[in-house]
Amino acid sequence: MVKVAPSILSADFSRLGQEVSDICKDGADFIHVDIMDGHFVPNLTFGAMVLKSIKPYSTVPIDVHLMISNPKDYLKTFVLAGANRLTIHQEINGNIGKMLSEIRSLGVKAGLCLKPQTPVEVIEPYLDLLDLVLVMTVEPGFGGQSFMEDKLPKITALRKMIGDRPIDIEVDGGINDKTGQAAVLAGADVLIAGNYIFKAENRKKAIRKLKGKKE
Ligand code: DX5
Ligand code: ZN
Repeated sequence: MVKVAPSILSADFSRLGQEVSDICKDGADFIHVDIMDGHFVPNLTFGAMVLKSIKPYSTVPIDVHLMISNPKDYLKTFVLAGANRLTIHQEINGNIGKMLSEIRSLGVKAGLCLKPQTPVEVIEPYLDLLDLVLVMTVEPGFGGQSFMEDKLPKITALRKMIGDRPIDIEVDGGINDKTGQAAVLAGADVLIAGNYIFKAENRKKAIRKLKGKKE
C-alpha cells in the first residue's frame, strides 16, 4: 500500500514538536522535512537544529528534502540531527554520485529529487546508488501550489526505468485525494502532502484517504 509522508512545511511552527507527535498518531509513515536555503529556491525554512529538536517527537522515519545549493557540506549534519532518508536535488552543482554514496555510508537512505522540468533520464547513471527518487509536481519552494498533471507520465517512465530495483518513488507537490490517486496509478510509492493533511479538519481521515481507504 502507498505510504504517506506529511510535510511539516504546512504545520504550526509555534508548536512543531506536538504537531509531529500528533501526525505520527494520525497515521504518518514518514515525516517529510523541507530544508530551503533561499538560494536554490526562493524561500527559507529551517536547518538541522530544528530537525534535531523535533526528532524525539517522531515515532516514524524522517524524510529530509534538501532544497539547498551546496548540500555536500551538510550531509553528515543532517544525519546526525535525525534524518533517516536524505534527498538532494539533481540540479545542484557537484558530484552527485559521490554525495549519494556518502549518504548511504552514513547509514541512511539516499534520494535524488527532480524539479518539474528535469527529465527522468538523468536518474539512469545513479540507479545503483539510490533508495528513492523524489518527483516534484510543483516548482519547489512553497506549499499549497497546484499539482502539475503533465508530470504523471514522468512517474510512469521512472517506474519502468527502476524495474524491480528496491527504489521508492516519492511524489511531492499539490497532493490531495484526487491527485494522490493519480500519482499512485502512475507508480508512486510514497505521497508527500503538506496543505492537504495539515489544513484538513480531520487529519487522520485525510491520511486514510491518501492511502485509498474510504473512511
Ligand atoms: C515544496 C515542498 C513540499 C511542500 C508540499 O517545495 O517540497 O514538500 O511542503 O506542500 P503541498 O502538499 O501543500 O503542495
Ligand atoms: Zn518536499
